[in-house]
Amino acid sequence: MEEPKANVTSSGSEHGEKEDGAGGPIILFFILGLIASLLIGWVAFPPLLYSQKKQPIDFNHALHNGLVDNGCESCHFFREDGTYSGVPKLAQCIECHEEPNGEDPEEIKFVEEYVKKEREVPWLVYSRQQPCVFFSHAAHVKAGGMDCVTCHGHIGESETLKVYEENRITGISRDIWGRNIAGFKRNSWDRMKMNDCADCHAEARVSGGSVQTQRDGCLVCHK
Ligand code: HEC
Ligand code: HEC
Ligand code: HEC
Ligand code: HEC
Ligand code: HEC
Repeated sequence: MEEPKANVTSSGSEHGEKEDGAGGPIILFFILGLIASLLIGWVAFPPLLYSQKKQPIDFNHALHNGLVDNGCESCHFFREDGTYSGVPKLAQCIECHEEPNGEDPEEIKFVEEYVKKEREVPWLVYSRQQPCVFFSHAAHVKAGGMDCVTCHGHIGESETLKVYEENRITGISRDIWGRNIAGFKRNSWDRMKMNDCADCHAEARVSGGSVQTQRDGCLVCHK
């Protein structure tokens, strides 16, 4: 019974000394843990979350814009009923690509794999929304007079198509989900989630203000 007492007093002072000594390493341990989790979140997580897919053909917009007569509308146009043609079909390429024009391996691949086999190119659409979303190009481009760059960035002027990144959990393109994992947005086209659509609608006073607060407001953008 006496021994533990002696122990308590002696270890009391020992304990005090130990605490001073252990404080530093513990704080350091926390800081290292914090840095490690930040690194996992910011550096390791996005590659884990997104699978990278290459476009079937690397299409050069800058080159083609100089070859066609009617700019973007030569390939992306409104049909007579007001719907948008979207990504071009093979039929729009064939007049110039029945046979390769040159030595470019991408063109040869395009002619051999798709034109000659009459197979449509399975382009990956960066801006593809979920099936429940209704989006109209006519409302924005025709009625709204908006520029493609506002929502798509500079794809239409690019020489090479960027890698398509797909969220492994939701199957949605990273261009919808957002480039930055913390949600920061530098450009209007960095992300196109519900709030991004709604924020611009509120600013532009589409249908007289925030459509989401109106009766049936959800059905403006949802099928
Ligand atoms: C000769 C035909 C052609 C012309 C001209 C053309 N494009 Fe394209 N465009 C394509 C093809 C093919 C794709 C499919 C590749 C892809 O999905 O990125 C595409 C894809 C796009 C996309 C990607 C959509 C998405 O979300 O995946 C945008 C944006 C686009 N074009 C904008 C433009 C703009 C803006 C112009 C004019 C400055 C233009 N294009 C001119 C053929 C054309
Ligand atoms: C007005 C004629 C014209 C049209 C329409 C056209 N192309 Fe081209 N395309 C060319 C020419 C010319 C070249 C340059 C060939 C070279 O010099 O190697 C080219 C090059 C290419 C190349 C290789 C360079 C590159 O990476 O883009 C691909 C792939 C291609 N075209 C795909 C397409 C697709 C897909 C379409 C339809 C959406 C299309 N082209 C429509 C004329 C055209
Ligand atoms: C207000 C934003 C906005 C503007 C402005 C806009 N787009 Fe889009 N675009 C979208 C959205 C959102 C989608 C996806 C639609 C969907 O998945 O139903 C899309 C899809 C597309 C696609 C792929 C369609 C497909 O599935 O085949 C092409 C190509 C395209 N846009 C080209 C253009 C061009 C060219 C312009 C300029 C004339 C333009 N867009 C202007 C938002 C916009
Ligand atoms: C940068 C601004 C902007 C963004 C981003 C935007 N919109 Fe719009 N939207 C508008 C404007 C402006 C109009 C009204 C055009 C007009 O009729 O004058 C409109 C109209 C519409 C309409 C037609 C509404 C009606 O009452 O006729 C629909 C549907 C729509 N947007 C859906 C969407 C969806 C879905 C998204 C996101 C994927 C989106 N919009 C992103 C600006 C934007
Ligand atoms: C301005 C256009 C717009 C309006 C208005 C709008 N939505 Fe959305 N909503 C979207 C877009 C675009 C997406 C897909 C992108 C995303 O997940 O944010 C979406 C996604 C959703 C989803 C997620 C679906 C899923 O599978 O992940 C739900 C739920 C939803 N909306 C409910 C609503 C409800 C309820 C309202 C009315 C209060 C509403 N939305 C109004 C554009 C809109």
